[in-house]
Amino acid sequence: MKRDSKKSLSQLGDIPADVFRKHLHEVADWIADYRENISARRISPNAKAGAILAALPANPPEDPEALEEIFADFEHLLLPGVVHWAHPQFMGYFGSTTTGPGILAELITAALNVNAMTWRTSPVATELDTLVLDWLRQWLGLPDEFSGVVYDTASIATMHALAVAREEASTSVRTLGLSGRSELPIFRIYVSDQAHSSIDKAAIALGLGEHNVRKVASDSEFRMTVAALREAVVADLRKGFKPLAVVASVGTTSTASVDPVPEIAAICGEYQMWLHIDAAYGGGLALLPECEWVKQGWSEADSLVINPHKMLFVPFDFSALYVRDIQRLRRVFTLVPEYLRGDAAGAEINYMDYGVQLGRRFRALKAWMVFRTFGRTGLAARIRDHLRLAQLFAGWVREDARFELSAPVVMGVVCFRLKGADDAESDRRNAKAVESINAAGEAYLMQTKLRGRIVMRLGLGNLLTTEEHLRRVWEIIGEAV
Ligand SMILES: Cc1ncc(COP(=O)(O)O)c(C=O)c1O
Repeated sequence: MKRDSKKSLSQLGDIPADVFRKHLHEVADWIADYRENISARRISPNAKAGAILAALPANPPEDPEALEEIFADFEHLLLPGVVHWAHPQFMGYFGSTTTGPGILAELITAALNVNAMTWRTSPVATELDTLVLDWLRQWLGLPDEFSGVVYDTASIATMHALAVAREEASTSVRTLGLSGRSELPIFRIYVSDQAHSSIDKAAIALGLGEHNVRKVASDSEFRMTVAALREAVVADLRKGFKPLAVVASVGTTSTASVDPVPEIAAICGEYQMWLHIDAAYGGGLALLPECEWVKQGWSEADSLVINPHKMLFVPFDFSALYVRDIQRLRRVFTLVPEYLRGDAAGAEINYMDYGVQLGRRFRALKAWMVFRTFGRTGLAARIRDHLRLAQLFAGWVREDARFELSAPVVMGVVCFRLKGADDAESDRRNAKAVESINAAGEAYLMQTKLRGRIVMRLGLGNLLTTEEHLRRVWEIIGEAV
């Protein structure tokens, strides 16, 4: 059996149809079993760095190998090195949760393997992107002057938004670049001290300089202080800098705090700065009618990024950037080489014009299948339950004399810590608790730093997580400390 399969694999062309079908069924069963029994797995591997690599042959395969052998190696050598993000007791980062329909769509996407660089290279990939982006725009309550583009990650989306801001503030950076141009001012970007590092990375990539991302102090609830923003802008103007943009966070990485967007928008209007909203995580809350507050000020923005792979149950990766008048983005990035001129001839949208990358995955299919399967009401119900679980957990923390909450619980994130008089010792104990919980493999948390203190951070967002799982994680935390 093994030899037959090997023999057929040595022929030209793809693997034989019957071999493919057989393995496809096996993989389907494997995935279904994986999903069904995932809570019995240890979440994080025990592996030492380099151990997986050491167990694998260093030389590339010279001759064909049977899929049976490859799958066996997958199970025995690779799988033990996986961190099971889909495990219901994985509560690290933001739940980049997968779903049945998401997995099915990814399988189909792999089979189609289209490259959606232009409309012509796969009309459906372009048009479904457009449709899904518009559905999401409606859910987010963004005015229809906003249109979107799908990228892999929020980091890339933010970089593109700031590229447009840079072009509009200086003109001709696209053609002339930045270097050697003494007529250009030094641009400044303002973020809160809680903002994600992707903005610094964007400044690095765009030649704006990491140092020119000014960190504005946040208040006691980790929201950007508007007065401090104004002071920073005024001080920079006095020194001859050019305030370029503010990135307001809706759902910061550590605590999910929300910056006061309407006030920030007013300052952006006053000083003609671009307003980009980083709603990578928190944007999903907009689907809940009771969370109207989260959308305040969004319609004043120039751009907004949301990662449906964070709160909206679309499998990684899928990030949507919305820009008011998307032609502004297009003007910065459209460039049609001769070999694509025939493909990019008509008036259709060619998404290659809206960013650096040419080749694009057909990402819309998974969002379309997930959004249709659950509907807004189904997505909202699941998010609502995560908010409920976060509040429940926060209540347990409040009632336990050993712990304290370290930040308000605004979304599905809870930051808490073991109390302790000696700061250094209590930092060590909090870090140690997270380390030992994760090493034991039954739960997974993160640590972060707030106001100089190490805290534990729990993130809810996996649709397999139930109250029972959360209770078990609370027990594990209790045992670990
Ligand atoms: C608030 C926020 N913005 C941006 C990002 C960057 O996301 P991505 O990994 O999609 O680049 C993250 C990542 O977790 C985030 O938490």
